[in-house]
Amino acid sequence: MHLVRRVLQYEYPKYRKHLKSLDLDSRVLRFGFAVKDEVIDQLCDEFEKNPQQHVLFCVEDINLEFVGVGHIALQGEMELAFSVLKEYRKQGIGDALIQRAARYCRTRGILKGQMVCLSTNTAIKKLCAKNGVKMTTGHGETYGSIELSPVDLPTIIQEQASAHAAATDYFIKRAVNFLVVHPN
Ligand SMILES: CC(C)(COP(=O)(O)OP(=O)(O)OC[C@H]1O[C@@H](n2cnc3c(N)ncnc32)[C@H](O)[C@@H]1OP(=O)(O)O)[C@@H](O)C(=O)NCCC(=O)NCCS
Repeated sequence: MHLVRRVLQYEYPKYRKHLKSLDLDSRVLRFGFAVKDEVIDQLCDEFEKNPQQHVLFCVEDINLEFVGVGHIALQGEMELAFSVLKEYRKQGIGDALIQRAARYCRTRGILKGQMVCLSTNTAIKKLCAKNGVKMTTGHGETYGSIELSPVDLPTIIQEQASAHAAATDYFIKRAVNFLVVHPN
C-alpha cells in the first residue's frame, strides 16, 4: 500500500525538482509536449505564487523525496495530472495517487475537468477506467474531458482515514531522518 500525502505549500519547490527529474518521454505524456526545464520553471513559479489554486499529493521515498505526484489545478476548469518516476512505475503508485486526487475532488463536488491524455497513453487510460474517472478524448486531441461520479459516504470516510495515515507516515519518516543525521 502506498501512502499518499497532501503536499504542504512550503514544500512546493520539491515539485519542481520532481518534474525536472522526468525524462523526455514522460514529459510528453505529462504535459502533452516535450517541455524544457525553463518551461517547468515558469509553470512552477506560477504554482508557487498561487498555491491555493494547485493541490498536490505525493508519494515519497524514505528520504522524503517525491517519487510520484498527483496535481489538481483549480484555476479555471479543474485539471488532473500525474507523474511517477520511471524506476518506481508499475508498483501501484499512480493508482494510489489517482484514487486520492479523485476522492479529494469528489468530496468537494468538483466533478468535471480535463487531463492531458495522448492516445498512446495506455497507463493513464487504464488508471482512469479503474478509478471511475470517465475520460472522453477526441481523435488526435491532447486533452481529454474527465467526469467523476458524485461522492458517497465510504469515499468521505476513506478521505479522512487516508489523510491521517499519510500524515503519521510523514512524521515517522521525518523522525527517522532526524535520528540518522543526529544519532546522539
Ligand atoms: C501514468 C503513470 C502516472 C502511472 O504510474 P504507475 O505508478 O506506473 O501506475 P500503476 O503502477 O499504479 O499502474 C496502474 C495500472 O496501469 C498499468 N500500467 C502502468 N503502466 C503501464 C503501461 N506503460 N502500459 C500499460 N499499462 C500500464 C499497470 O499494469 C496497472 O494495471 P493493473 O493494476 O491492472 O496491473 C506513469 O506511467 C507516469 O508517470 N507516466 C508519465 C506521465 C503521464 O503519463 N501522466 C498522465 C497524464 S497527466
